[in-house]
Amino acid sequence: LGHELLGLLLGVEGADRLGRVLERGIVGVALDLGDDGGGVPTLVALVHLAADAAVALWAVLPRFAAPPRNPNQALIFPRKEAPPMDPRPIGVFDSGIGGLMAVRMLRHLLPGEPILYLGDTARMPYGDRPAGEIDRLTGELTGWLLRQNVKALIAACGTISCNAGETLQQLPVPCFDVVTAAAEAAAQATRNGKVGLAATSATIRSGRFTEEIERRTGQAVTAVPCPLLAPMIEHGAGPDDPALAAAVAEYCQPLLQSGVDTVVLGCTHYPLIAELFTRILGPEVTLIDCAGEAAKAVAEAMKEQHLLAEGNDPAVTEYRFTALPPQAARQTARRMLGEDFTPRLLPLEKLTAFSTE
Ligand code: DGL
Repeated sequence: LGHELLGLLLGVEGADRLGRVLERGIVGVALDLGDDGGGVPTLVALVHLAADAAVALWAVLPRFAAPPRNPNQALIFPRKEAPPMDPRPIGVFDSGIGGLMAVRMLRHLLPGEPILYLGDTARMPYGDRPAGEIDRLTGELTGWLLRQNVKALIAACGTISCNAGETLQQLPVPCFDVVTAAAEAAAQATRNGKVGLAATSATIRSGRFTEEIERRTGQAVTAVPCPLLAPMIEHGAGPDDPALAAAVAEYCQPLLQSGVDTVVLGCTHYPLIAELFTRILGPEVTLIDCAGEAAKAVAEAMKEQHLLAEGNDPAVTEYRFTALPPQAARQTARRMLGEDFTPRLLPLEKLTAFSTE
């Protein structure tokens, strides 16, 4: 059965014609008797159509559609061709567990979408590596995900988004990164035009995130590399960890001095310690979660491009890591996801081998 929804507002005369259509196989009918505003009773029908029933309906439509006594009496929203559904998973990847923030938002917005997550925990952090190396590692991650037949990819990592352009731009499926949506959200959120960016060294060095924000605000961004944060978070440090708190306090100094009112957390690991940033920057500073913003944009784009599986049941998310996260990091990951999860090992040799596993 198709799941197209056809809304009809019919004059009473149309009711018996509709009855005939119903006999020919329309399913899921909701009827409501109303008034057309001019005292003429109308029948409002919301009809779920099977494909052949739609044809049957079109066959009788002209008879009650024209001429309407009142223009409101025959409002017809024509059935479009049923968009193709795509049951393949969405591939989400990061150097480690940071991308799980994107998974959480995606699962919330698109519960029927299967997701295949890949975290390169064995080679994390990426944030201190040269761009060429990040691009090469990204090629391995995307190569494996493509062999698992993903329909779209999300680079849920600021470092990869800013340093692996060569690989990301040549993929055979739609690929989304975390930069554009976060820059857009920051430009919307700022009131004084002063935006800060906290991210890995490689992200700041690339200049890409900064440019995308500055293009929208017209003001210089205060960009702060925070090399210690992602590895500490990856190993399980949370907002109550004194060493992590001290590192955040130090990284926030330039942000406080420049009077920013909005800070982009440009590394997908950082939203997990957002409360630490707020504690130091103050509640009046808006924090932008780049992973969450990206996931929202992806959900919109995939709906528009008819890329969704449109399953009605909650779909499976599979979590693969090149090294199984230690216990503390699993706790962190659970907090990120807001639920339990089962990480499965993907040994590095399988990542690079030509296999579908
Ligand atoms: N989640 C990555 C990012 O968004 C972590 C960086 C790293 O591996 O150093 O940048």
